[in-house]
Amino acid sequence: MCRASIRCAFVSCILCRLETGALEMNVGKIPSLEAVNGSTVMLPCTYLSCIGIKNLYFNWQFNDNGTMRKVCESVIPSEGVVPHVTVFWDRVEFVGKNYENNISILLSNITFEDGGQYTCFGRNPKEKGKNHSAIFTLIVVYKLRVVDNTLTTMIASAVGGAIALIMGFMLLKNFTLFVLSKLEEKNKECLVTSSGIDNTENGLTGSKAAPKPTPKKK
Ligand SMILES: *[C@@H]1O[C@H](CO)[C@@H](O)[C@H](O)[C@H]1NC(C)=O
Ligand SMILES: *[C@@H]1O[C@H](CO)[C@@H](O)[C@H](O)[C@H]1NC(C)=O
Ligand SMILES: *[C@@H]1O[C@H](CO)[C@@H](O)[C@H](O)[C@H]1NC(C)=O
Ligand SMILES: *[C@@H]1O[C@H](CO)[C@@H](O)[C@H](O)[C@H]1NC(C)=O
Ligand SMILES: *[C@@H]1O[C@H](CO)[C@@H](O)[C@H](O)[C@H]1NC(C)=O
Repeated sequence: MCRASIRCAFVSCILCRLETGALEMNVGKIPSLEAVNGSTVMLPCTYLSCIGIKNLYFNWQFNDNGTMRKVCESVIPSEGVVPHVTVFWDRVEFVGKNYENNISILLSNITFEDGGQYTCFGRNPKEKGKNHSAIFTLIVVYKLRVVDNTLTTMIASAVGGAIALIMGFMLLKNFTLFVLSKLEEKNKECLVTSSGIDNTENGLTGSKAAPKPTPKKK
């Protein structure tokens, strides 16, 4: 869930006491990676145990169409000790070195066949051999970002288009309201003037300047 920091270790310890599972395998916040064929990728994994480890067994396994193929395995005597790791794949290197509980591996020159699910597995004898694991997914692509970019562009243009549409609609609405209000104003003016005329004609407002000259002219 979280990286192997002191704060996370503390939080995890509290959780630990609440749950029975002490060991936690962690493949990162985003447990997947998209990489181009031929490139080198790191498959990240760290472990976390609040009760401490002793002879922690771990391995990396690849789900080869339903069959779990072991990539590497080792037993970590205690925290901070660089373990001797047996690697079964020639393109794999153990790079975590158990530094800060890091048991990540490096996979070089990836092929399309390397794409799939990798399980980081751990078992701490201190926990009576309970199994723990986390899955990391590797997606091997021919070219990176092309699909992503089109998708992003599509989303961006779609969002932009939607915003433009909404703004256009709002402008149109405001314009219509403006025109309507102007028309209404005009109507009101008409009503006021006509009623004003009515009043003067009826002689109810009397003392206005306008009606006076008319009699003089007459
Ligand atoms: C990736 O795969 C394509 C198609 O098989 C191939 O043409 C290309 O050379 C490969 N790239 C690398 C770096 O291996
Ligand atoms: C996976 O296994 C199934 C049946 O066992 C088979 O039909 C399929 O072709 C296999 N796929 C790959 C990628 O090997
Ligand atoms: C990866 O490929 C390069 C070039 O083909 C080669 O020199 C290198 O030894 C390969 N690395 C591994 C670990 O196989
Ligand atoms: C684990 O070790 C590798 C290699 O040194 C490093 O690149 C990676 O960032 C480390 N991961 C964590 C979570 O510390
Ligand atoms: C733990 O995993 C091992 C394989 O590594 C398996 O034989 C065993 O049955 C598992 N134990 C539990 C409790 O799932």
